Amino acid sequence: MFRRIWQTILVAMATSGWWQKRMQSSRKASELAKRYVGGSNTEEAGLVAAQLAAEGITSSLFYLGEYVDTEELVAENMAAKLTIVKTLAGKQLEIHVSLDPTQLGSGLSWVKGAENVARVAQDITALARGGDRDCAMLDMEDYSVNLATIELHDNLKQQKLRVGLTLQAYLKKTYADMEKKIAEGAMVRLVKGAFPAGSDVAYQSTADIKANYVRLIDLMLSKKARKTGFYPVFATHDHKLHAYAIEVALANGWLQGSYEFEMLYGARDNVARQLAAAGESIRLYLPFGSDWWPYAVRRIGENPRGAMLLLRSLFKD
Ligand code: FDA
Repeated sequence: MFRRIWQTILVAMATSGWWQKRMQSSRKASELAKRYVGGSNTEEAGLVAAQLAAEGITSSLFYLGEYVDTEELVAENMAAKLTIVKTLAGKQLEIHVSLDPTQLGSGLSWVKGAENVARVAQDITALARGGDRDCAMLDMEDYSVNLATIELHDNLKQQKLRVGLTLQAYLKKTYADMEKKIAEGAMVRLVKGAFPAGSDVAYQSTADIKANYVRLIDLMLSKKARKTGFYPVFATHDHKLHAYAIEVALANGWLQGSYEFEMLYGARDNVARQLAAAGESIRLYLPFGSDWWPYAVRRIGENPRGAMLLLRSLFKD
């Protein structure tokens, strides 16, 4: 219950123009957000991705600017996505870019948004150097677009484009969706879920969500899944879930590198580096751009210490 109220407040703050303006012009809040943001433009983000690559950590680049509602902003987002694809290719780095359909216009017209996502996936596919993991990774937004996002992934895969899909452990339907994606040999990133959703469709308590995440680890790292070419991605900062996934992978014959862990840049970097040092494949979700408020408020909300720092920054600017 508390979790749902908290998520509703955060989503309201993330989508409020007033809060966005107030916070993005606050010096203290900007400093706090920098911890989670890898630069304000494609060049800076490319440099951070290269530094991480030198440490053996891959990245998924994400241009900030969610829930856009004008053609101009969609065009700006598209330009940034296409530029970062070229920047990564130019630096001979893996081309892994995360995309929210609402960033690319799906809120204005789903068809137009889907065409834009396809365009980014086409460029990635054309510039990929043959590494297995270059892809357009579709983020999963709120429940209203769940089905359409899964269908978009189906469609792009049928076109043989390099694409991955995010599924959320808090949704009751995810187990069945995951079974289908495993059979297709897809690349799926499993997250807990960051948007409020009703008890008819979603598990509500932290314990139930975690229990479903565990069931999904068992499914994604089953011996059967290994034979389909499926590539599991565990996107969580929860070290108990990391340890559990490693145990299941070992028991079922999954080698290090045939699955990966993904975390957010700036969140529990120590845990990411420990896993990398132990030989696990680690990717950091690396956001960039100046429109950081909606993203940062969700991250800060996931970390109670961050929420306190944010509140203080409001009064100490
Ligand atoms: P959980 O909240 O269970 O906490 C585990 C531990 O990690 C705690 O100690 C906690 O304090 C710490 N921690 C968690 N977040 C932190 C942070 N930001 N800073 C510091 N410490 C932190 N959701 C969604 O609905 N759709 C999506 O497409 C995505 N995409 C996505 C990509 C990637 C790479 C990640 C890591 C996450 C997402 N998410 C997402 C968000 C996801 O649904 C979830 O809300 C967060 O990952 C928080 O759940 P965890 O399991 O990571 O940590």
